[in-house]
Amino acid sequence: MRSLVFLLFVAVANARVYSRCEWARVLKNYGMDGYRGISLAEWVCLSKWESNYNTAAINHNTDGSTDYGIFQINSRWWCNNGRGRTSNACNINCSELLTDNVGVAINCAKRVVRDPNGIGAWVAWRNHCKNRNLSSYVAGCGL
Ligand SMILES: *[C@@H]1O[C@H](CO)[C@@H](O)[C@H](O)[C@H]1NC(C)=O
Ligand SMILES: *[C@@H]1O[C@H](CO)[C@@H](O)[C@H](O)[C@H]1NC(C)=O
Repeated sequence: MRSLVFLLFVAVANARVYSRCEWARVLKNYGMDGYRGISLAEWVCLSKWESNYNTAAINHNTDGSTDYGIFQINSRWWCNNGRGRTSNACNINCSELLTDNVGVAINCAKRVVRDPNGIGAWVAWRNHCKNRNLSSYVAGCGL
């Protein structure tokens, strides 16, 4: 019985809220520091303002699309939520962006920045991170 409970526990993908430095470390482990010339601090700043480091964040937009997860990735272009038109360029179900299996969201974010807009695709990055001194976002993380 104990092993059954354990199996059930590991089988369920849970949502998770990261601390700033935890998230910075995860991003670094996934090769995000310098990916397409984007520094770790830019990614941490973007995640802070999009989701406050919460993988379960969901926000609905006025155009009927929805933003999912720690990077608030949009259903019109990047993932499929079964509601309305989508390009689904990341080729995923939007619900996969909400779990602690963050490799899915990170790979999709990499796909987003391979487009010409790059990290400028994120409004929160343009409003809160672009052209700012972002050293505080990775300060004290030992990275
Ligand atoms: C996405 O996955 C969820 C949970 O497994 C499922 O309920 C939903 O039908 C899926 N949506 C699409 C569009 O495949
Ligand atoms: C950015 O801010 C940090 C901490 O406040 C400071 O030490 C650093 O000199 C600043 N860098 C630039 C380029 O202004």
